[in-house]
Amino acid sequence: MTGAAGFIGSHLVDRLIADGYSVTGIDDLSSGKLDNLPSGFDLRKMDIRDLEVQTVVAELRPDIVFHLAAQISVSISAREPQLDADVNIGGALNLFEGIRVVGDKVTKIVYVTSGGTAYGDPEIIPADESTPVRPLSPYGASKLAVETYLPIYEKLCDLQYSIIRLANVYGPRQDPHGEAGVVAIFAKAMLAGKPLTVFGDGNDERDYIYVQDVVDAISRAAEGTLPGPFNVGTGIGTSTNRIFEVIAQHCGHTEVASHGPDRPGDINRISLDPSKAKRELGWIPQVSLEDGLKTTVDWFKQQGE
Ligand SMILES: NC(=O)c1ccc[n+]([C@@H]2O[C@H](COP(=O)([O-])OP(=O)(O)OC[C@H]3O[C@@H](n4cnc5c(N)ncnc54)[C@H](O)[C@@H]3O)[C@@H](O)[C@H]2O)c1
Repeated sequence: MTGAAGFIGSHLVDRLIADGYSVTGIDDLSSGKLDNLPSGFDLRKMDIRDLEVQTVVAELRPDIVFHLAAQISVSISAREPQLDADVNIGGALNLFEGIRVVGDKVTKIVYVTSGGTAYGDPEIIPADESTPVRPLSPYGASKLAVETYLPIYEKLCDLQYSIIRLANVYGPRQDPHGEAGVVAIFAKAMLAGKPLTVFGDGNDERDYIYVQDVVDAISRAAEGTLPGPFNVGTGIGTSTNRIFEVIAQHCGHTEVASHGPDRPGDINRISLDPSKAKRELGWIPQVSLEDGLKTTVDWFKQQGE
């Protein structure tokens, strides 16, 4: 698994180990943390653009490769599109080439990408998988570009793939720079009694999905044979102001937020229709926003933030 020490990756590691899989991780620890991983976990610290990745694939000859490592910041991608493409597209192709070189067995790739950015600001909400893709940021474009290589690699070598298009994922261990980073930013600042700024008027809506539900969808896709793409979200949009309100309740925060300018590349309204994942993977989100945010805030409290 690439990106194993990250937010979603580390929860997936826990789930796969509990399910009896033997798991090796690749991660450069640029945003991931060793503390996220179980002790004794086989982590190879390297950049996904490094040719050494191909050596690791040849050594391990994995049955399933989960690709999660990425440059995940929309704002960094807007500032440095070449860096973003280098990691997100170049790194993915380096990994896929490693699989192609092994060549003598069927490998399954589960590619974790972003439904929250692929569709831009769609006209019809919730967006299903037939909604035209039109990312508004270099990050959205680079994550989407990799999807288009997978059917090509399926022909070039013996591989199967599944594409998981995630909504905005939140939960314990989340990174403040990710797509649902606002949950971590609000929780940390409120628990520390710091003032908060909301970008724009706060009426923008995103689809917030709890990390355990995401891990469940990814593992169902890995065990199946269908390529997707699969939207993994709730189908419900929640405004930034509402997220602020619920987290404030859990943190006992009473101050109102000040509002700043919109961020370039941000989406105004998005939610993802999960009907295909329900139909083809038997996946249904289980955790309500209120329960998920409470667990997340409790985790940040335990971290002593
Ligand atoms: N969090 C979300 O809301 C969300 C939404 C949609 C898609 N995704 C996708 O899910 C995946 C995981 O995201 P996350 O939220 O867990 O973020 P994360 O930053 O916690 O995890 C990414 C991991 O990749 C590692 N990494 C980054 N660059 C690397 C490189 N060049 N070489 C090796 N490792 C590298 C980081 O150290 C980190 O451990 C990403 O592919 C992201 O695009 C996340």
